[in-house]
Amino acid sequence: MLQSSKRRMNCVLVTVSLLLGGALSALAAPTTASITVQMDQPGIQVPSTLHGLFFEDINYGADGGLYGELVQNRSFEHRDALYAWTELVRGAAAGQISICNEAPLNATNPHFLRIAVKNAADGGVGAVNSGFDSIALQEGDSYLLSIYARRHAGEKAVLKIQLENASGRILAADTINEIGTTWKKYELKLRCVATEPKAKLVVLATQPGAVDVDMISLFPEKTFKGRRNGLRADLAQALADIKPGFLRFPGGCIVEGKDVNNMYRWKDTIGDVAERKENWNVWQDRVSPQYSQTYGLGFFEYFQFAEDIGAEPLPIINCGMTCQARQGLPVPLDQLDPYVQDALDLIEFANGSVTSKWGAKRAAMGHPKPFNLKFLGVGNEQWLQEYFDRYAVFYKALKAKYPAIQLITTAGPQPNDGLWQFAWDKFKSGTPADIVDEHYYRPPQWFLEQNGRYDTYDRKGPKIFVGEYAAHEPKRTNTLRSAIAEAAFATSLWRNADVVSMASYAPLLANINHTQWGPDLIWFDNARISLTPNYYVQAMLSQNRPDNVVPVKVVAPQVQPPPITGRIGVGTWLTQSEFKDVTVTRNGEVLFKSEFSNNNLDWDLFSGDWSIIDGALRQTSGDENCRVFIGDISWTDYTLSLKARKLGGSEGFLISFGGRDGENITWNMGGWGNTQHGLDVPGAVDAFVPGKIETGRWYDIRVEIKGASVKCFLDDKLVQQADSKPTSTLFASAGRDKKTNEIIVAVANASDTPQTASVNLTGIKAIKPNAQAIVLTSAQPGDENTLNKPNRIKPTKEAVTLSGPQFERTFPAWSFTVLRITP
Ligand code: AHR
Repeated sequence: MLQSSKRRMNCVLVTVSLLLGGALSALAAPTTASITVQMDQPGIQVPSTLHGLFFEDINYGADGGLYGELVQNRSFEHRDALYAWTELVRGAAAGQISICNEAPLNATNPHFLRIAVKNAADGGVGAVNSGFDSIALQEGDSYLLSIYARRHAGEKAVLKIQLENASGRILAADTINEIGTTWKKYELKLRCVATEPKAKLVVLATQPGAVDVDMISLFPEKTFKGRRNGLRADLAQALADIKPGFLRFPGGCIVEGKDVNNMYRWKDTIGDVAERKENWNVWQDRVSPQYSQTYGLGFFEYFQFAEDIGAEPLPIINCGMTCQARQGLPVPLDQLDPYVQDALDLIEFANGSVTSKWGAKRAAMGHPKPFNLKFLGVGNEQWLQEYFDRYAVFYKALKAKYPAIQLITTAGPQPNDGLWQFAWDKFKSGTPADIVDEHYYRPPQWFLEQNGRYDTYDRKGPKIFVGEYAAHEPKRTNTLRSAIAEAAFATSLWRNADVVSMASYAPLLANINHTQWGPDLIWFDNARISLTPNYYVQAMLSQNRPDNVVPVKVVAPQVQPPPITGRIGVGTWLTQSEFKDVTVTRNGEVLFKSEFSNNNLDWDLFSGDWSIIDGALRQTSGDENCRVFIGDISWTDYTLSLKARKLGGSEGFLISFGGRDGENITWNMGGWGNTQHGLDVPGAVDAFVPGKIETGRWYDIRVEIKGASVKCFLDDKLVQQADSKPTSTLFASAGRDKKTNEIIVAVANASDTPQTASVNLTGIKAIKPNAQAIVLTSAQPGDENTLNKPNRIKPTKEAVTLSGPQFERTFPAWSFTVLRITP
């Protein structure tokens, strides 16, 4: 890897002033770069909100994640009412459990569990909860159990509550004896005698008769800040440690939901947890088909957590639209009032006086003081006129009542497609917007190439909220390389802090057993967490954010982009299609020619229903992402040509190339509901162009690859192309921390080679010799942290000695360095 990349290094030249101050590294490579920090310039102010957090209940981020509840399906309101529970008949007892609904706890919690004991003998009858794939317990810790119960008149009821390991060893236990005939909440404190990662909760009735139970809840006593109904301490602390400037909540697509009943409505998420109306989770998938939302981590808990960690709350409200990416429908404009009212009421809930209707509810939950809400997002990733019609209604109503609240407007799901363009055309032609939310999930190379993105944004236009971003590696893992690409990009956010006021990596959390989306900032299981290199980049950025940044000039060698290398594939998304005459040629030589003559499919199947019919390869499933692949992972500089015909469904074709080990570049034709063609590759001239694929006609498709460039033709017409450009090895930004008066210099080296740069702090006469360097790097750019090896990549803090405001420093290959220097 190192060798080949070194070959790519094109030591294009740089004029270097060899200003030898205190050489910092004994291993210094020859100086080939310079970083000039213009401390004599006034610079621009950096908002304290620049680096924040994006929270969404995806990947079991809330239930089974940050929310401390250990019992899954505590209220029996899951659509499979006994989900995570199993019946238990112990000893020689007899009886059964059932789900009932007469005279329930309350109207929003209509189901409960009835335990009917015919004969208790020497055991009992009850139910076992498996938690979220089990319950992790710590020796010596206490766990707070609560349960609503009632016995039937004239019958006895005693409940034994036990925490047990897989072989039935009791790790903590207690008994509830005096159960009345009406619903009542009972609470126990269970002290655990041994550490056990795979425990379960047993609820056992030990007297003949029937007992009804509901809202069976178990929390560690040690939650974040010891709060009742609180957050898992290690995860919450890791988030607090970043010192985020804001906290976005509750997402993400979850705000939108798949249909009207699935929309996130904040009023469902406050008040007594036993009265919160549960919902299924829009991120339900094949891995986690039972994914639900208890809303235990609701809007009150969210505001409180934001306050606890010193972050500005930044809620995103449903704007009367379901998820357009999931073919959702908007609420008709004449039925929008309740959604607008929700938005107005949310502001009152956060900021209203205790005598206001919603302020009183906040006070009743234990927070009479306002939460001081300043920002509100209107919709997540919505697009086109449907959105702007609804946004206009929200904008008018919100600004009329709360003119000081800064509104966040979405620019859609991509950083540069037709939907994004539509939104920006609106803003440029007078649609008012305080802050525009842009999202991008792109390869590391894209982040390097986009370093100048905001340099040309209108300084008088709306501010930018980079509401979701992450560098996506082929296997969507959290590599050092992806983290350094984000750090390099973030230097441009500092430089453009007069336009970009907020930015957050996404998604935030991922339960290793229930992942819908990677990469993520923090991985966890029930007992452990793993902080990614991307986490450390966010922490370094936020903890070292200057209050003021000055211009920085970087002169450094350039790196050529890697050639597009790898095999080919065809596929579909929610569509049936067929493909034939697939050939791959290089300089007249045929590397591959398809032969669809019998039903012997020798392509590698990823997913879908594929067969050979009438000399063509046919895909008949209606699923998303149906793909097959073939060829050699070392192919470069080739032309792929084929014919394709759509047979039915809602989109077009997925043609891939440059495929290696799960990595594929895709030309998505007729994507996004058959509205656009997308070429998601760094250097794309127009990554998305309007386009559709008709059913029933054969198309000629050709993809020409040369080095890192690609041209895509449809019926011999050039439709899209990409031409990756060389990028700098070094990216830097710098400024001043007003509180400590330190100069902060942040430098990312996004190359395979250490880079030695002369650093010059112009306008600074002298500095204190003792400075600090915080460095994040690792042996290989593909390195990751895992739950088993969580500390492989971590920032190190070094004391460094500088002899003056001009010095040399070697920045290791694939590293991010923050220098703190006292003038
Ligand atoms: O962060 C994961 C998802 O990506 C978010 O829910 C959505 O807003 C985006 O498409």
